[in-house]
Amino acid sequence: MAQNIYDDPGFFAGYSQLPRQVRGLLGAPEWAAIRAMLPDIAGKRVVDLGCGFGWVSRWMRGQGASDVLGVDLSQNMIARAIAMTQDPAITYEIADLETLELPKATFDLAYSALTFHYVGDFDRLARMLYRALVPEGHLVFTIEHPIYMAATRPDWGQDQDGRKTWPVNRYFIEGERRTDWYVQGVLKYHRT
Ligand SMILES: C[S@@+](CC[C@H](N)C(=O)[O-])C[C@H]1O[C@@H](n2cnc3c(N)ncnc32)[C@H](O)[C@@H]1O
Repeated sequence: MAQNIYDDPGFFAGYSQLPRQVRGLLGAPEWAAIRAMLPDIAGKRVVDLGCGFGWVSRWMRGQGASDVLGVDLSQNMIARAIAMTQDPAITYEIADLETLELPKATFDLAYSALTFHYVGDFDRLARMLYRALVPEGHLVFTIEHPIYMAATRPDWGQDQDGRKTWPVNRYFIEGERRTDWYVQGVLKYHRT
């Protein structure tokens, strides 16, 4: 069972104030680069994995996607996504990417922003997505980069003496990492 920090009231209150949640895609620093990687969306069936408030799900429909499925572990995030969406071609579901099973050969594009680093069993997820995509389908995703985090939050990854413990140390040892972000002990999975 995945950790669900986004349903922690304190976490959600803080997270909801971030520019990417208040301003949407214009507040997401990676968006211009990611948008350039996307295939033509018109007529495509899209799944948005870890959809959050649904900003990308709605954008995909604006680009002509035939339908979009947004999935997220958090009731808070899905409730906000539903409240912000008036579009019968977008469906939101609460689901855990650790166990999610999508129907075979159903999607043209699987998209995910800043979510896969919360998933422990990435191999299972990747195999499931491969089956869920049609031949020539696309998977486009972002994860948090450990060096990016080191640069933006220098207080992270230090021990009590201020020495860096993560992300730079033990970079090549993949696996669980804990960090404090609005709440203590946020679980993420480091991969090289
Ligand atoms: C950093 S937010 C990104 C939200 C959105 N994709 C965006 O770019 O604004 C990460 C999202 O992943 C969701 N999430 C975390 N672990 C998950 C899991 N195991 N299964 C499904 N969603 C998960 C969280 O609830 C949260 O909405």
